[in-house]
Amino acid sequence: MNILTLNHVHKSFARTEGEDVTQALSDITFTVKDGEFLSIVGPSGCGKSTIMRLIAGLIFPTAGTITLNGEIIKGTDTERGMVFQKPTLFPWLTVKQNLDFTAKMKGYTHKADYESESERLLELAGLEEFRNDFPHQLSGGMAQRLALIRTMINKPRVFLLDEPLGALDAFTRMNMQDEILKLWQRSNHIVLMVTHDIDEALYLGTRIIVMAPRPGRIREDMKNEMPYPRVRTSDEFLQMRKRVLEMLNFGQILN
Ligand SMILES: Nc1ncnc2c1ncn2[C@@H]1O[C@H](COP(=O)(O)OP(=O)(O)OP(=O)(O)O)[C@@H](O)[C@H]1O
Ligand SMILES: [Mg+2]
Repeated sequence: MNILTLNHVHKSFARTEGEDVTQALSDITFTVKDGEFLSIVGPSGCGKSTIMRLIAGLIFPTAGTITLNGEIIKGTDTERGMVFQKPTLFPWLTVKQNLDFTAKMKGYTHKADYESESERLLELAGLEEFRNDFPHQLSGGMAQRLALIRTMINKPRVFLLDEPLGALDAFTRMNMQDEILKLWQRSNHIVLMVTHDIDEALYLGTRIIVMAPRPGRIREDMKNEMPYPRVRTSDEFLQMRKRVLEMLNFGQILN
């Protein structure tokens, strides 16, 4: 059982020459376990990406601790796979090479160990025909799909998704949502996903964290017990949606 814990996490960023600081996060505490899918929503600048980068081990808390299975996160590791808001691909490698390179970083040394999964994911993302293209030849949505499957191939214990579907058209987006869901249900690992799309948060998450800005705080940490597959037009869904929307508006009036 994997357990990820953020315990009274604060994060400030120095601005000009240490004069002023931006307090990005204040007192963030939550625990996520295997089998949980945590959706994080909140206004722009409330610290959502900062939370993801902290868990990825790219930056460190100003105060408080972050642990995975009791161990403090000291840096990046393939056990915590992140998909960034802006796709980060290796520009000098083709689509297929981007995918295979990540599998090799995880330690797969034989092609046979990752080849079938790599092929399956290329097909899933609709990128088979573009396998020999380079990232600059892809559309924004294609690049984002590649970034997503590249992280999927390593089956991380903690899957960190920072608005991974923002650049996609509605149809591809819904397909990818189902794929993320399948991946999570199969692995039963921890997923944290930041999104601006409340429907997406509700369609996927077993739990939804609603944040308030400046400094970023948790306004509400609510369970979403609707059974899967969820129906976006069901009464239950629409009621939950209303609740989250009200919470977000409430936040804007207060701040
Ligand atoms: N490296 C950095 N240096 C200085 N300030 C930063 C840095 N990273 C983030 N911040 C600040 O921290 C705050 C939170 O930023 P963050 O990117 O986490 O927000 P967000 O909730 O992801 O926003 P969005 O929804 O627009 O992506 C912002 O005020 C931002 O300016
Ligand atoms: Mg962000």
